[in-house]
Amino acid sequence: MIKKIITYPNPVLKKKAVPIATFDDELKRVIHDMMETMFDAPGAGLAAPQIGLSRQLVIINTSEQEEDADKKAIALINPLITAGEGAETEKEGCLSVIDYSAKVKRFTRITVQALDAAGKEIEFEAEDFFARVIQHECDHLAGKLFIDRISSLKRGLYKKKLKKILAEREDAARKRKGER
Ligand code: NI
Repeated sequence: MIKKIITYPNPVLKKKAVPIATFDDELKRVIHDMMETMFDAPGAGLAAPQIGLSRQLVIINTSEQEEDADKKAIALINPLITAGEGAETEKEGCLSVIDYSAKVKRFTRITVQALDAAGKEIEFEAEDFFARVIQHECDHLAGKLFIDRISSLKRGLYKKKLKKILAEREDAARKRKGER
């Protein structure tokens, strides 16, 4: 089932996510729903807090990693970036941060430890865009958004812009209601 994506400044996005200890059908259902939601958006990744679940689970879109792969994704549970090297500053966006993108500095190569959907330990290396997405999604589990990694000046400008966007949306919604 496609879930509603929660957007900034909803407080759930600021919360530290809780580690997962139970690997049951309920977890598999959540993973399935998150994959569906991410492909529908579409997005490069999705973290559980973005659908309102403060749990340590992220979905990474790997469609571009594999040849001839359409709609492929992996689930990382309780993920940990154990090593990182190199640095690259590239434009980033987020499904939870509407109408905005900004340059963010990330490691170019990382080592990741996590559990899979069955609770089995996995470890792998990632680089470039794949590594960037994993770092971005792991940030979500720490209650951090990419706008927390830009200058306070830029963040302030975005907050102003967002206020305007939200006010316009509210206004449009009110008008639609009035017409009915
Ligand atoms: Ni994001």
